[in-house]
Amino acid sequence: MKKIYLTLLSIIITTSMYAKQNEVFAKVSSPVFLNSTLSKTIGTVQTATPLNIIKEKNNSLLVKVEGWSAEGSETIIFKKVGQRVIYAILDENSIKNIKTIKTVLDDYETPWNQVTINVWIKKENIVKDINIIWEEASTIFNGRCGGCHPVPELQHFTANQWPGVIKSMKDRAGLIPNEFQSVVKYVQNHSK
Ligand code: HEC
Repeated sequence: MKKIYLTLLSIIITTSMYAKQNEVFAKVSSPVFLNSTLSKTIGTVQTATPLNIIKEKNNSLLVKVEGWSAEGSETIIFKKVGQRVIYAILDENSIKNIKTIKTVLDDYETPWNQVTINVWIKKENIVKDINIIWEEASTIFNGRCGGCHPVPELQHFTANQWPGVIKSMKDRAGLIPNEFQSVVKYVQNHSK
């Protein structure tokens, strides 16, 4: 009996963890647009950025991007305050479309805004299951970064340290731009 309750409890916990019904992810670095005709790009969302579907039209989706931007670089949206996992890089002229939810100070007294922006993206550029992205990225990471020395532990660097490490080894590992970005996202999201 106890076992059944525990199983039920774990099912409830697991489903509530994945309860973000409309959440999808950018499969690769993708252009985003101001309207559904996809004529005017206003920046890019990067690999693995979570996107919340608001509506669908033909081959495009209106999605909400939510993250944090530091004062002085309002057009770059990050995952967390002080954690430089980039979600989106937007054009200057899209600032007027960015909504601020709240502002907090980081450890260095720099103000960070919690922001959202609604953008259109091509349907073909999203995936529902983030593990598809992580599996591909870990195959590249483990395959290429172990060629000359042992593959470094994911926990060995912080999310802010990893991009520099991958950048310094990018050419040795022969990473093309999309591979570089998905490896960076993978290690940042699995770092200490
Ligand atoms: C062609 C061989 C080669 C490949 C492929 C390679 N490395 Fe390296 N790596 C080296 C060498 C040689 C060093 C010794 C330090 C130096 O010369 O920069 C090194 C050093 C390092 C270090 C320790 C120095 C530091 O920057 O802290 C890390 C971490 C590292 N590599 C990570 C990686 C990762 C991650 C990848 C995959 C993206 C990778 N390496 C792919 C050759 C390689």
